[in-house]
Amino acid sequence: MDKILIFDTTLRDGEQVPGCRLNTKEKVAAALELEALGVDIIEAGFPISSPGDFESVSAIARVIKDAVVCGLTRAVLKDIEVAAEALKDARRPRIHTGIGTSDYHIKSKFRSTQDEILKQAVQCVKWAKNFADDVEFYAEDAGRTGNEYLARVIEAVIKAGATTVNIPDTTGYCLPHQYGEKIAFLVNNVSNIDRAVISCHCHNDLGLATANSIAGIIAGARQVECTINGIGERAGNTSLEEVAVIIRQHKSLNFYTDVQATKLTPISNYISDLMRMPVQPNKAIVGGNAFSHSSGIHQDGFLKDAATYESIDPKDVGAAGSSIRLTARSGRSALAYRLLKLGYTYNRDDIDVLYTRFVQIADAQREVVDTDLHHLAKEYANTAVLA
Ligand code: KIV
Ligand code: ZN
Repeated sequence: MDKILIFDTTLRDGEQVPGCRLNTKEKVAAALELEALGVDIIEAGFPISSPGDFESVSAIARVIKDAVVCGLTRAVLKDIEVAAEALKDARRPRIHTGIGTSDYHIKSKFRSTQDEILKQAVQCVKWAKNFADDVEFYAEDAGRTGNEYLARVIEAVIKAGATTVNIPDTTGYCLPHQYGEKIAFLVNNVSNIDRAVISCHCHNDLGLATANSIAGIIAGARQVECTINGIGERAGNTSLEEVAVIIRQHKSLNFYTDVQATKLTPISNYISDLMRMPVQPNKAIVGGNAFSHSSGIHQDGFLKDAATYESIDPKDVGAAGSSIRLTARSGRSALAYRLLKLGYTYNRDDIDVLYTRFVQIADAQREVVDTDLHHLAKEYANTAVLA
């Protein structure tokens, strides 16, 4: 089995989201939780971006023991020096530097040429090597960069000393087979690719970030950049919990991570609270509805054998458990199950009568909750006494 390195960028790409900014104390606490979760690399911030972020990266570098601590830079010498200074106390520092390689970046943003950008990429990697052995290079917008030019850049930066090469689909543009082909192209056409780890960094603009990252590792990448709850610029980044659970569930992929799956739900809640960023209820793995069943057909199957409607055991990802939610689409077995949980035992005939009344209540409100069930049972008991 091959290990997939988990590079967490919750505190950098995730924290860039408006409203999600964290202070140093909060970032340090979150970094410690990420280390306990088992991530391999923590991207702690972008040190030159503000004095606050510099201080956060320095503080994280001081407390993290096992994980690599990484700081982001542009391909600017001063950025790299400032990142190196922020990381100076880290046991395992990594400088993450890079530049845009697509025509959008080269022509519109930099008003430059492919050759000039390649030179700058090499220069910044060489400069970063003066401060750290572990240097990651990102080719921003690699998703929309032609494969031939991308391969030239990647070969040159590896020659200059890059130990990880990050292939970001910055705008979330690629389809999974295209992203996989891009990684395969690099594996097959970059002569020194065996000297670096290929990393996937996918954005979720088309809802494909996780699928693209999985396509990337199948094609030969061995690091995935992701965030808790998939938070990040615009539609977000690849979600850490999705990647970790997919790798765990699909043993045939022959990959593993060091992520402790039972910590996924607690850390999702923790980051959501800390950043005041709610998780959508239908979010895979960690959403409030990820293990709840509300339609009669599903509930009946689930109550006979949970695996009928759940491919993941909620306990495996640290969730409290599955739930049977009662709505106007629910059936008799779900009603009987919930009543029994509250201590009411009824035979089939009782349930038939109770169900008629239940559906009336359920039609009038969105969900039937425990208090409604107590009322229903009381009402039924009174009717039975009168009869
Ligand atoms: O999406 C992106 O391209 C990035 C890089 C800065 C790594 O976040
Ligand atoms: Zn990004």
